[in-house]
Amino acid sequence: SAATQATSVVVLDRGNNTTCTINLHGATVVSWRVNNQEQLFVSKLASFDGKKAIRGGIPFVFPQFGPWSFGPQHGFARVTRWSLEKPPERMHNGDVEAIFSLMDNEFTRSMWNYQFRITYRLILREKELHFHIGVYNPSKDLSFTFNMLLHTYLKVPDVRRCQITGLRGCTFIDKTREGAIYQEGREIVTIGEWTDRIYQHTPQEHVITNVVSGRKMRLHKYNFPDTVIWNPWIDQAREMSDFGDDEFPNMLCVESGHVSSPVILLPGTSFEASQILQIIIEGNVNRK
Ligand code: BG6
Repeated sequence: SAATQATSVVVLDRGNNTTCTINLHGATVVSWRVNNQEQLFVSKLASFDGKKAIRGGIPFVFPQFGPWSFGPQHGFARVTRWSLEKPPERMHNGDVEAIFSLMDNEFTRSMWNYQFRITYRLILREKELHFHIGVYNPSKDLSFTFNMLLHTYLKVPDVRRCQITGLRGCTFIDKTREGAIYQEGREIVTIGEWTDRIYQHTPQEHVITNVVSGRKMRLHKYNFPDTVIWNPWIDQAREMSDFGDDEFPNMLCVESGHVSSPVILLPGTSFEASQILQIIIEGNVNRK
């Protein structure tokens, strides 16, 4: 119903038409507007039925990346309803913070029989969005392993004109070639075909050019050793029921993850990781 839909969405509003919208279904960031300009891609065919993963924005991938024998592809976190731990709150500097959480429940234990607690803290700044994740293992005796990834769909005018820095020298698993492993030789990576790569041991920072308004986006990550680059291109796009055939030029997934090796979490310990997305405004160094 409309009422259920409405209560499923949490908005961080920083003023100046700068907002971030989170759908509790998967704690999926479904919109990030900076001065009214949308930064994230969401497919026009995305499903918001509270069952399927939302096609676009920033789905939260946990505890599995990719196909999973015990549950859905990319794990259950993106298809589970999260709780709003702390409603949006304006801080003294004007930034807005909200905290979301997910704990094990009957549904998660049916696939993955572990106790866990995730806190997901989002901070909306003027030109930045910060993501801080904590995973806690409350068990007294059981360890568990997991993958985690922020599946960021950037909105771009034309993916063929985007450039991604920071990948040179990194090895990558090419999922379009049965998982063959290569080493990246390019200083600047461009996308001109179906691309599905797990770059390993990537540096903390990537810059992506030609995002909305021809601007640059800086992605900064901590405790996420991998960077996944994905664009389905035309044929794979046709295979997806919740993605328009003509939409692939307008998105680029650059995903911070801990996926090519698992995180091992011992009893009573926690794991933390974070990401910052920052719009780089060039050509105006004067501050008012
Ligand atoms: C990417 C994977 O992260 O997500 C791709 O590397 C996958 O292999 C893509 O196709 C989309 O996955 P899904 O489950 O949202 O269709």
